[in-house]
This record gives sequence, C-alpha cells and structure tokens, in this order.
Amino acid sequence: MERIYKFIVLHGSPKGDVSVTMQFVRFLQFRFKEHSFEVINISSNIKSIENGGIESIIDRMNKADGIIWAYPVYHFVVPAQYVRFIELLYDNRDKLDLQNKYATALSTSIHFYDNLAEDYIRDISADLGLQYVRGFLAAKNDLLIESKQTNLTKFFKRFTHHIDQNWTVENLAIKAEIPAKIKFPMHFDGTQRVLTDKKFLLITDATEENNNLFNMVKYCTQKMSSNLKVVNLNHINVNGGCRGCLRCGARGDCVINDELRSIIEGDLISADGIIIATTIKTRYISSLMKTLWDRSFLHGHIPIYNNKSILYLCSGSYTPFIKNEFEARINVFGGNLIGVIHDNVSCDQLLKQLNSSIENLIYSTERSIEVPRNFLGVAGHKIFRDYVYLAKSVFRAGHEYFKKTNYYDFPQTSWITKIKVAILMLKLKYRPIDQKFQSKINDGMIREIKKVVDKMSA
Ligand SMILES: Cc1cc2nc3c(=O)[nH]c(=O)nc-3n(C[C@H](O)[C@H](O)[C@H](O)COP(=O)(O)O)c2cc1C
Repeated sequence: MERIYKFIVLHGSPKGDVSVTMQFVRFLQFRFKEHSFEVINISSNIKSIENGGIESIIDRMNKADGIIWAYPVYHFVVPAQYVRFIELLYDNRDKLDLQNKYATALSTSIHFYDNLAEDYIRDISADLGLQYVRGFLAAKNDLLIESKQTNLTKFFKRFTHHIDQNWTVENLAIKAEIPAKIKFPMHFDGTQRVLTDKKFLLITDATEENNNLFNMVKYCTQKMSSNLKVVNLNHINVNGGCRGCLRCGARGDCVINDELRSIIEGDLISADGIIIATTIKTRYISSLMKTLWDRSFLHGHIPIYNNKSILYLCSGSYTPFIKNEFEARINVFGGNLIGVIHDNVSCDQLLKQLNSSIENLIYSTERSIEVPRNFLGVAGHKIFRDYVYLAKSVFRAGHEYFKKTNYYDFPQTSWITKIKVAILMLKLKYRPIDQKFQSKINDGMIREIKKVVDKMSA
C-alpha cells in the first residue's frame, strides 16, 4: 500500500489564487485526497516573504515529504518574484534541510521555452540537495482535455512512486563553478571610442560588492564615453514585478508606474546598441534583472531588438542554461547577439574579449548588421504568431503589429502556393512523372536560387 505524504507546493504565479497554475494544483488536491498539499503563494506575497516570512517557509519545506515547484513560465523562465524567493532560499541555505527529499515541477505556459524554466528549477533543486524528478510542463488549457488530465494523474502517481521506492534520480544539473575574484584593472587605459550618432544603452544590476561586474561596467563607460546611457537598476525606482494582469495586451502600456517602465518604453526601444551587464546569483540573472525582462512584456510579442546589436556581460557561475537563455531571448526578439563576456576566464582573456566585443558592438551597430534567426528564433516566432493570432482579443497591440509587418506568415494562406502544390500532387500520381520528379529533386531544389548566383557572373 502506498504511503501518505505531505507536499509543499511553492506556487509561483503573481496572480495568487486566481491563476491558471493554481487550477492544476487544485486538480491534484482533489485527485489525491489521501495526501496533503500545503500551498504557499510565493510571488504574490514576495514582500512579506522578504520581510521575514522566509523562515517559516523553510521550516515547512524541511518538514515536507516532497516539494512541488508550481509556476507559470514568464519571459522564458519563471517570474522575477519566484527568482527572488530562490535568492532568499540561497541566502538561508544553512537553515535548509532538504537533502535527498524529492521535488518536481508543475508548470503552465504556452510551451514557449518552458524547457528553459524547467532547466532552471532542476539546477536549483540540485543545488539545494533535492532529488529532482522531471516535471509536468502543461499547456495552460490542458485541463480542458480529458487525456491530459489522465496524464497529469499518472505523472503524479509516478512522482509519489519515486518517494515510495526511494528511486535515485538522474542528476542532469551541471555543476556550477564559482569564479575567482579577478583583479580587473580599475582604470581604463585603452583607446577611447568616439561614437557616431547611434544610441547605446547599458543596463546593469552591478553593485560595488560585485567587483568583477562593476569593473566591467566601468570599463565600458570609460571606453564608450559619449552616446552611452547607463541605467543601473539599483538606482532607479522599481515598483515590483509583472503582475500578469495582461492590461498591456490591448495598448502596450503597463499599470505599474515607475522609472523602470519609462526605461522599458523609451530607452530600450530607442537604443541602437545595448549592453546588458548582469549578476549571476542563483544560477541565473538576478531577480532585479529578471524584473526588467518580465516587465518588458508590455511590448508583448513584437521583435523589439530588430536591427539592434546586443552584448551581454555577466559575473557569476556561467552555465549552458544561462547561455541558452541569453541566446533564445535575443534571437526570438530579432537581435544580433554579439556575445557573452563572463568572468569564468582569466583576467587577461576577459580584458581582451571585452575590448574586442565592445569594438564588435560598435561596428555592428553602426552598420545595422542583421543576422538570420536560428532555430531558437524561428521556432519562437511561429509559436508567437499562432498564439497572438488566436488570442488577438487580448493582444490587440501585438495583433496590429503582426498584421502590419507580415509577421503572420502562415504558409497555408497563399492560394497560389496551395493551387501549385495541389496540381503537382495530382501529377505525381502518374508514375512516369513521379519517377522524373524523383530523379530531379536536387536540381529542383536549387533551380531558383541558382539563377540569383548565376546572374552575378553574367
Ligand atoms: C509576463 C508574462 C510572460 C509570459 N511569458 C511566457 C513565456 O515566456 N513562455 C510561455 O510559454 N508562456 C508565457 N506566458 C504565459 C503564461 O505562462 C501562461 O499564460 C500561464 O499559464 C499563466 O499562468 P498563471 O495564470 O498561473 O500565472 C507569459 C505570461 C505573462 C503574463
């Protein structure tokens, strides 16, 4: 007979009880009445958790048999408030007693980079000593489908079975290396760049405590003295994280009125070249930097980095998850990622890379260099395209933009293509035509593009 367990559900939606994710949690509560589920609304109560509430949560986590990370995917990962909570857990690691307890994830999303969010939670779990069992990454409407309900039920049964059987779980987390403090030169002694009329923006969360990042930022400001606007998120008024109210969907404005909003609405859009200088804290960017990304949701799904070159600087343990997140974020929104400079290398290497990357940023920005999107951006665009089309009543601003800019590039809407394909399919039913077609597939594939190149030699 299976045992009875006490689960702690760390619920991450800023919407509290009125969230999609919470409905999935309630589903589990009703399906598995034999177990107890204590739900803690993390993101909607982050202020009180910061002000001492963390202690009692840690106490309850320590006493539980299993931890459920239940969160919505927000801007490629989890909401900034949830990241803040994880920072608090790290700050209180000496009080945590989670060694070999089981944990899993229950996420809701539109399947846009829900894998990245899970990678983060998996790595966090490993750092906290938990045995992480692969999560259930639901689409937000999955509960409407009976077969998906069955899947969720089976998934959770298997999770409890892990605890019953004391199964050892594969550990996919990459070990995080903590970089040594590098002795970065405090004074810039290279060539200063006189910038053209292009606008450059540097956004950072650097503090003097994080010496490496602070000095990298200083290096940039000294090298790029003119036309570089520096915004330190620690020095502006930030009135909380995104609340997920979706009020921005209609007109692209945010209900939170603070300085961060004007940076996102103004500087982020008008800049031609951008440097993001971020601290890596809990295997990810800081919750402050994540607040910037979540709040940039006011621009919805439009490619705000089109024609912009972007350079990342970061300090902390740099892992493949972080690289993937940076690349996906810039690629999806149409930007040209110059590179990621991090301090997991020697001081000499870092200086050379930094200097060259700033040159590259200036060069690329002055020439508006655009690069093709790779899979991350192309796939992301298709998800956005389909989603905004179906949810256009909510995302009216995005819908208008997508219509105007041919972002709705559904292949099946071209009648000419449809007719051509239908005629060809009919012809191919006739065996001799099919045989000829098969023998000329490769020639056919290059027929039109070859003409473009042939013309050049004419
Ligand atoms: C600010 C914001 C950012 C979002 N970012 C993503 C995302 O990156 N990927 C995704 O698949 N869904 C994203 N979504 C959609 C939510 O993950 C999805 O609607 C989820 O079910 C909401 O759950 P909740 O009601 O529990 O907050 C985002 C929604 C909001 C409001």
